[in-house]
Amino acid sequence: MTDRTQSAARAREARRRRYLMCRPTHFEVTYRINPWMDPAKPVDTDLAVAQWEKLRALYLELGHEVELIDPLPGYPDMVYAANGATVVDGKVLGARFRNVERSAEGPAYLAWFRDNGFTELHDPEHINEGEGDFLVAGNLILAGTGFRSEPPGHAEAQEFFGCPVVSLELVDERYYHLDTALAVLSEDEVMYNPRAFSPGSRAVLERLYPDAVLASEEDAAVFGLNAVSDGRHVVLPEAATGLARELRKRGFEPIGMDLSELLKGGGSVKCCTLEVREAAA
Ligand code: ARG
Repeated sequence: MTDRTQSAARAREARRRRYLMCRPTHFEVTYRINPWMDPAKPVDTDLAVAQWEKLRALYLELGHEVELIDPLPGYPDMVYAANGATVVDGKVLGARFRNVERSAEGPAYLAWFRDNGFTELHDPEHINEGEGDFLVAGNLILAGTGFRSEPPGHAEAQEFFGCPVVSLELVDERYYHLDTALAVLSEDEVMYNPRAFSPGSRAVLERLYPDAVLASEEDAAVFGLNAVSDGRHVVLPEAATGLARELRKRGFEPIGMDLSELLKGGGSVKCCTLEVREAAA
């Protein structure tokens, strides 16, 4: 361990978060919009709910606030709350989905925020799939494109939030959202799968985060990067043992979860979690 990681290891502090989640009451896989989805494979909805309930209970145990949005029948992917919006400083950028199968989710999430007292809302003109492709890292927003969100959607986010948006090109269809290829660990630390990015985007990540945790192919393929950090605890799929080991070395507390049913839709921990970042008091 270098001096830098040792000193970082002493400083890990969790910050209480506010999360929005959606119970997978209507979860199933009836269409295929990413390579993980196979409508021929059976899905156990009760098991999906039970696994999701454990994730929710864990967040509460860690001291976070968890709010719920009502799931819409006929929208099985609504459980992936991360896609519903992006919230920075209390400002809510709605989502606009690429696939018609998910089109009603954007307005449903936007309505939730309106009904819950948020007043600065933006209904987007361009495609963006919420925190699936927008990850807030300190003062930056890292933004994925290539499969779902489109570059004009990145520009729209930068204009709305007034935060610099760094566009990153995803090149492997298994990692179709940024949150399947990269996770934010703290204001200035990330972990990512270099193979999921174009050469130029990989170079951008190396420049921004020379000490990043790099995921092995095995850890990436079990969705290990679909993780949620509160600054100290990093909740991630339990099969990503290599990442957990590396996180522990750096002073984080990895917590493995089994979300196998939700993986059949192409999502895991982070996909099920939308962070609601309020304006500083
Ligand atoms: N079936 C969903 C889709 O393909 C999964 C979304 C996963 N969410 C995420 N934040 N990566 O759109």
